[in-house]
Amino acid sequence: MPDKDDNITVAFQPDGRKVKVPIGFTALDATIKGGIGVEGPCGGQGTCGKCKVRLFPCEGKGLPEPNGHELKALTKAELKDGIRLACQAVLGCDCTIEIPKDSRMYKHLILMTGLESATAPAPNISVDVREKAGEKTTYILMGKKRIAKRKGEHLEIYGAAIDLGTTTVVCHLVDLREGSTIESTVALNPQVVRGDDVITRIKYASTQEGFEWMVTKAREVVGTLIVQACDEAGVDPRLVFEVVLAGNTCMHHFFFGLPVDGLGHAPYLPAHIGSLTAPAKKLGLVVNAAAQVYALPIFAGFLGADAAAVALTSALDAYPGTRMAIDIGTNGEIMLCSKGKIYGCTSPAGPAFEGAQISCGMRASTGAISYVTFENGKFAYSVIGGVKPRGITGSGLVDIAAQLLKADLMDMHGKLKEDKKGGIRQGPDGLELLLVPKADTDIGRDIVVTQKDIRQLQLAKAAIASGISIILAEAGITPEDLDDIYVAGAFGNYIDRHSAMDIGLIPRMDPKKIVSIGNAAAIGAKRALVSMTERARAESLQGRMNHIDLAGKKDFQEVFMEHINF
Ligand code: FES
Repeated sequence: MPDKDDNITVAFQPDGRKVKVPIGFTALDATIKGGIGVEGPCGGQGTCGKCKVRLFPCEGKGLPEPNGHELKALTKAELKDGIRLACQAVLGCDCTIEIPKDSRMYKHLILMTGLESATAPAPNISVDVREKAGEKTTYILMGKKRIAKRKGEHLEIYGAAIDLGTTTVVCHLVDLREGSTIESTVALNPQVVRGDDVITRIKYASTQEGFEWMVTKAREVVGTLIVQACDEAGVDPRLVFEVVLAGNTCMHHFFFGLPVDGLGHAPYLPAHIGSLTAPAKKLGLVVNAAAQVYALPIFAGFLGADAAAVALTSALDAYPGTRMAIDIGTNGEIMLCSKGKIYGCTSPAGPAFEGAQISCGMRASTGAISYVTFENGKFAYSVIGGVKPRGITGSGLVDIAAQLLKADLMDMHGKLKEDKKGGIRQGPDGLELLLVPKADTDIGRDIVVTQKDIRQLQLAKAAIASGISIILAEAGITPEDLDDIYVAGAFGNYIDRHSAMDIGLIPRMDPKKIVSIGNAAAIGAKRALVSMTERARAESLQGRMNHIDLAGKKDFQEVFMEHINF
């Protein structure tokens, strides 16, 4: 029964938790309020079909009829069983929501570390201890400016390096005297409940309320991670004097409260270019009152502060030869140094590499199939966490495509070939690969790869491969001229180099030259925190970066089509 304020009670099963929400909340809003993670890659638009829950109205009261999105995404049997799309089902009475295993957001594997090389500490923050009449006073300096003072001699100074990613957020608490990480904390970006990709979040932020929600969540997660890291390290957060932030342009803008509407459509114009500094207090961070947040430069559009951090980690500007650095995600960032020149572009790969818009796709979390082989006529796979599989992550999908090609179960155009022995069968939407039968999964249904999934992968890989091809052409070189390719991010960490080359995602080269550099964004942020020399390097890249606007390239479609085949 609604209470006097028109609030209803929603209970969650099997969690046993209850929350009060206003009438008119969707089931997804209720799960967010209840702190229960439900997948919602499309951000509640009703298009991904991943937020399935079972609804039980109390006191036999009915629920609103399923809407068009639900009728499209759910089978008759599911509807009969009370399954609804959490983002579409509007609640009007007390009810219970059961969250099935395959809709639950599981523990995400967050890549914290990356390629680290020694950085001599030369931070922006330093201490100056003065003695007068036998009494010592410690001054904290930011550059040459005194920003704080304490009685006595206190040499401790700390900083936090943040990678504010679309999916995950990492914080390294750094002892600025030593330049070393003393504690690291990680979290899922709380904004994921409003969509997996930045464009969906930008749409959500198109209302003032939605924008404020995004800004609050971005600041909250960063603040929480800093405080957690301080707690775990036994450091007073007031001794954190500087925060350095890396993150894609959209996350950066949310964090600083900058408008994001220009990023939602071509030509993807950011509200700010270059680096940015703001008082930490204004951004709600519980650190020293005089602390500041410095964000690495945004070069152009989505070639943002995360790309600047990757450039630092891969020493792109300092490398004397020809090196490429790529970060493969929803928006792939590709940078190249060749003959002393730096080039950069972004390529909209879409969310397939992150497992979204793939029928059994999921992010790299517990239960995700991340590695697949085909031996003796059978597919074999590895599952993150060593549990029963729940879905396939991007790297697993790349392996599957490579193995299908090798086993001649798919042609170079990406067309599956019916072969029952090889596991290719007719499914409800055409041919599909049965990878794991229902009995061996944790989700009570088969894990399959459909023809449509393969098409999504083709589009994603063609976007990245076209970006690579165009940037090489711009520099007047060929893949053979590359000394190495540094691959950043979680996808780069899990991906099998041979599979990536077999499907044409990365140019064919000596596999030893493909180097995974882990969470290069977090490491780059740390470098800029620890050393003003590194920060100056990042700033100088701003002027040196030759940004290539792929969408503006006349031949982009042509190049894209050249890379659509495997
Ligand atoms: S269909 Fe509900 S979040 Fe995508």
